[in-house]
Amino acid sequence: MSARLVVLVSGAGTNLQALLDACADPAYGAAVVAVGADRPGVGALERAERAGVATFVSRVDDFDSREAWDHALAEACASYDPDLIVLAGFMRLTGPAFMSRFGGRAVNIHPALLPAFPGTHGPRDALEYGVKVTGATLIVVDDGVDTGPIVDQVAVPVEEDDTVDSLRARIQSAERPMLVENVGRMAREGFTVSGRKVRIGS
Ligand code: GRF
Repeated sequence: MSARLVVLVSGAGTNLQALLDACADPAYGAAVVAVGADRPGVGALERAERAGVATFVSRVDDFDSREAWDHALAEACASYDPDLIVLAGFMRLTGPAFMSRFGGRAVNIHPALLPAFPGTHGPRDALEYGVKVTGATLIVVDDGVDTGPIVDQVAVPVEEDDTVDSLRARIQSAERPMLVENVGRMAREGFTVSGRKVRIGS
């Protein structure tokens, strides 16, 4: 039976698309059962609708507090009974209600080689720092900002004449297959988190 994925998004949804494409093959072992966004009108929601996948939107501003939003997000995700939640360009920090339900079962793709350059500007910060190598990191979500145990990483070179956009594009080309490969393996083989070590398979 396929693992049930809920994917959380905020943007264009290129990572979501890569997952949807992979899930079209039954041998991949996972199915996207719902896509949730923190804002309406984003490309990722259109991709989900085109693929016939259920969507929901939970906007922070529609709630009295972040706690209430966090609770509603957790409820919305739970209603799809996911095995794994994939934060794929989700630009919000999840809170205690989400973590108490999905801690250890949620992963996030970040466009830098953590622990370097956490936060919302990974490619820009790497370029400004002058590193020669950066990349993308898949983590198991914890309470911090991009601090969770590392599932996998992929490195990309920083070129002499890179702009933030060209670097971001190179990172995204590398992160998509890395995300797809790891989510598929996690779905098919299972995984354990022990301290900071993530092990896929038994
Ligand atoms: C990706 O680069 C991801 O690493 C970051 O946000 C971006 C999302 O892009 N967290 P998309 O919405 O999947 O196209």
